[in-house]
Amino acid sequence: MDGVQELIRLARLARGWAYAPYSNFTVGAALLTDSGRVYTGCNVENVSYGLTVCAERVAFFKAVSEGERKFQAVAVVSETGVTPCGACRQVLAEFNEDMKVILARPEGDWYEVLQLSDLLPYCFKSIQ
Ligand code: THU
Repeated sequence: MDGVQELIRLARLARGWAYAPYSNFTVGAALLTDSGRVYTGCNVENVSYGLTVCAERVAFFKAVSEGERKFQAVAVVSETGVTPCGACRQVLAEFNEDMKVILARPEGDWYEVLQLSDLLPYCFKSIQ
């Protein structure tokens, strides 16, 4: 089994931890570092809706808060195979604008591999 399939498998597992009682739309993410470690995340909603955090950002902040800075790819699993929201694209682009974004669904063989720079061209880079 290749790396893409393994990342999708871990994102599917993480989706099982999603806390999404308001939208009922559960999402799992698995973020691969250059060193081969994987950090997972799920969406965590809140009764104050705007405080919700997406699966991708949960995975990203977990990784960065443990010292990671180099990322290769993120797999995102949802019922419909959605692409990351704009806020997550900007966050993911912080260390690697060219990382791969893998979209998949909870079951089945379908997946798509995209380039973050295609999802977020001309991203905000620096105030300098
Ligand atoms: N969501 C994610 O976790 N990741 C995405 O890529 C799209 C949206 C979450 C946020 C919210 O909990 C739910 O999906 C519906 O928008």
